[in-house]
Amino acid sequence: MVKPDYSKFFASRVNLMSPSPIREVVSKIAMRSKVRKVISFAAGEPDPNVIPRELYAELVKDILENIPKCVNYSPAEGVPDLREEIAKFMGRYEDVDTTLDNIVVTVGGSQALDIVARVILEPGDIVIVENPSYVNTLLCWQHYGVRVIGIPMDSEGLVTEELERVLRKLKSESRIVKLVYTIPTGQNPSGITMSMDRRKHLLELASKYDILIVEDTAYNHLVYDNVQVKTLRSMDSEGRVVYVGSFSKVLGTGLRIGWIEADKEIIERIRYCKQPIDMCAPVISQYLVLEILRRNLFDSIRSKAVEVYRCKRDLMLKALDEYLPELKHTKPVAGMFILLWLHEGINCFKFADILLEKYDVAVIPAAPFYTSSGGDNVIRLNFSMAPQDMIDEGVRRIAILHRELTRKH
Ligand SMILES: Cc1ncc(COP(=O)(O)O)c(C=O)c1O
Repeated sequence: MVKPDYSKFFASRVNLMSPSPIREVVSKIAMRSKVRKVISFAAGEPDPNVIPRELYAELVKDILENIPKCVNYSPAEGVPDLREEIAKFMGRYEDVDTTLDNIVVTVGGSQALDIVARVILEPGDIVIVENPSYVNTLLCWQHYGVRVIGIPMDSEGLVTEELERVLRKLKSESRIVKLVYTIPTGQNPSGITMSMDRRKHLLELASKYDILIVEDTAYNHLVYDNVQVKTLRSMDSEGRVVYVGSFSKVLGTGLRIGWIEADKEIIERIRYCKQPIDMCAPVISQYLVLEILRRNLFDSIRSKAVEVYRCKRDLMLKALDEYLPELKHTKPVAGMFILLWLHEGINCFKFADILLEKYDVAVIPAAPFYTSSGGDNVIRLNFSMAPQDMIDEGVRRIAILHRELTRKH
């Protein structure tokens, strides 16, 4: 009996696949949590205690009892009534005038981003992203052999002046950019929200250089301060924006419901692509989201989440200023994350490992979110998930370890 040499069977594509650093840390936390109580600032999850699970239980009971087809496949593009409700939702919350024909319901924003890549990207294509950007999109799009160029961000988001310089240079070399991927509101991992001027400039550049924009709106409904945030899609007069939505961060990541809203020509291709992949997004979840939207419950669920996460964000910012005043960090007005720059020379992976092992605090090393060097000493802190009364303590422990390691440098 000889075990096969599997490497001989693997597609060459597997060489483009690497593990997600977020999942790796989450697995380590799960192991550690079996023996110790861990304060997690790691995954970008909503607090399950903020989500009205009892209400969901009633709604799901109702759905299971009264909608027999909830245990069958839905059309690949989603339950029509849900697509209709999402179209209304986009009008109401995103100022986007759209119809169900422009919408495909997906298995979270994650699948939406994968399908967009399948439909639009080819090996060698140039894609522009914020630097840093959401690591799972970078990893997923790597599978398609694309070339990623990162453009720096500042407190106003993607530095579009730099984007313009890069686009001009690439054009002079006859190199074509297909799309810009952006998370304009409450960006992951930085927590930064793009200013209105930058949003307008980005759209102007997309038009001038004939580029599509993929607008990832995962955190659009978690805005804590009084800032003007308009979706790119609502300002898009040419149909250049592919809007990727997700209900994960407000209604729950486990529901696995997201969507794509775009021009019908793009949506048609997306439908063809999706049909053979998954038949449809989870149907009971689709009906649950439908009921939440239909009964106008989204607003109250979101308001509660915003209230709780605003408070947690403030606690984390206060603790950072108290225990680590010498370090730079972002100050999010939206989303779930703060980026923290450790003392230069402290490696973020090593820091995260020791922090978990010695101090039972979990954070995400931010280096994999960067498209080039620059993130080696940066960690990402999530503030939505940890219990309120553990946030100060978690940051205090980060500061203790930071002091220990700084002394060695
Ligand atoms: C920016 C961004 N986009 C998309 C996703 C995917 O989320 P989901 O697939 O749960 O909608 C996430 C999740 O963390 C995210 O941070």
